[in-house]
Amino acid sequence: MFSADDHDFMLRALELAARGMFTTTPNPRVGCVIVREGRILGEGYTQPAGQNHAEVEALASARARGNDVRGATAYVSLEPCAHFGRTPPCATALRESGIARLVAAMEDPNPQVSGKGLAILREAGIEVRCGLLEREAYEMNIGFVSRMTRARPWVRVKIAASLDGRTALPDGTSQWITGEAARADGHRWRARACAILSGIGTVRKDDPLLNVRHVATPRQPPRFIIDAGLEIDLASRLVRSAGAGSAVVIVHTVSNPQKERELAERGCELIHQEGGARKVDLQSLVAEMARRGINELHVEGGHRLVTALFLAGCLDELLLYVAPCLLGQGEPLFDLPQLGSLDDRWRFTFAEIERVGTDARILARRVTDIATKES
Ligand SMILES: NC(=O)c1ccc[n+]([C@@H]2O[C@H](COP(=O)([O-])OP(=O)(O)OC[C@H]3O[C@@H](n4cnc5c(N)ncnc54)[C@H](OP(=O)(O)O)[C@@H]3O)[C@@H](O)[C@H]2O)c1
Repeated sequence: MFSADDHDFMLRALELAARGMFTTTPNPRVGCVIVREGRILGEGYTQPAGQNHAEVEALASARARGNDVRGATAYVSLEPCAHFGRTPPCATALRESGIARLVAAMEDPNPQVSGKGLAILREAGIEVRCGLLEREAYEMNIGFVSRMTRARPWVRVKIAASLDGRTALPDGTSQWITGEAARADGHRWRARACAILSGIGTVRKDDPLLNVRHVATPRQPPRFIIDAGLEIDLASRLVRSAGAGSAVVIVHTVSNPQKERELAERGCELIHQEGGARKVDLQSLVAEMARRGINELHVEGGHRLVTALFLAGCLDELLLYVAPCLLGQGEPLFDLPQLGSLDDRWRFTFAEIERVGTDARILARRVTDIATKES
């Protein structure tokens, strides 16, 4: 059904989509290539929210090069949108352009629009094929798929650990367990995330900034801190770095008008979960994040927050950097209840194993419907 050329041009569309890795949020990363007789007439990728989608960029680039796209094939890494959002529908723009064939990697995962973009083109007599390099396209937008189909972000938990599974010494020291290359690599994952989440324990111990460094990006993801009791120090680096272009959101359950005012004055946003619970409700928090358009959530916390997320069913993927050392006594990766039988073990699959500098990077996915859907 697909030729070797189709394959190569879709690879190109995916390559283009990846250029929007740090910037398209809350929109998906999409690439588009328009081709006739083996020659690329125009190409593009989705621009930051509110600006052009990939298809419109590709059509504009063809026009700018003086190329007529009538009769051409368009390759898109995601079904063209069919609705008016901040921009007009791409399916209509492609239909009006006079292309003869459309190849899409995957359907739009939004159940409300899924298939409609392809239908607009089919109804106009355009030959439509879908499903080429679908796995790669899905991986590119795993967070968008999660938000559209589950109304929650894809939650990726980054942890650095020793070979004996320790994440800090008994006194809490954890900087640094892994080497420089692994730490720089971690910043790429921060950069692609729509938001970053940590706990007050880590803020107290490490005074982290949790922003993106070592990677060129025009966007700093907002940093959410779980701090039920509003204990965060006003002099912490996080609070001091709050402000335009670098948001800090404190999630709390207790009411403390003076502290709330002081944090707000310093540029922090506050989410007050009411109801008197001592702990933040993590499921409601991730649902709220989805409402804010957060596709991929990157967590960097200690074992308390990580365990709580896992037990709340809010952990999809572990991004584990393993250093070739032993730490002996110290903080664990998780603090889970005892199992009665091996049959009950919590299962993951290895999505990826790579060597990064002197360390190993393991991407392990919780076995759930969404993670195994395309495997
Ligand atoms: N190796 C690594 O990759 C790595 C990464 C980060 C941190 N660390 C280390 O981890 C240590 C800090 O760990 P930590 O466990 O104390 O801190 P943490 O997990 O970052 O934060 C703990 C906070 O998470 C919240 N939490 C815990 N259980 C919860 C639940 N069931 N529901 C809602 N919220 C919950 C609590 O906030 P409230 O009390 O406000 O409810 C708790 O104080 C430090 O030594 C740090 O260096 C290591």
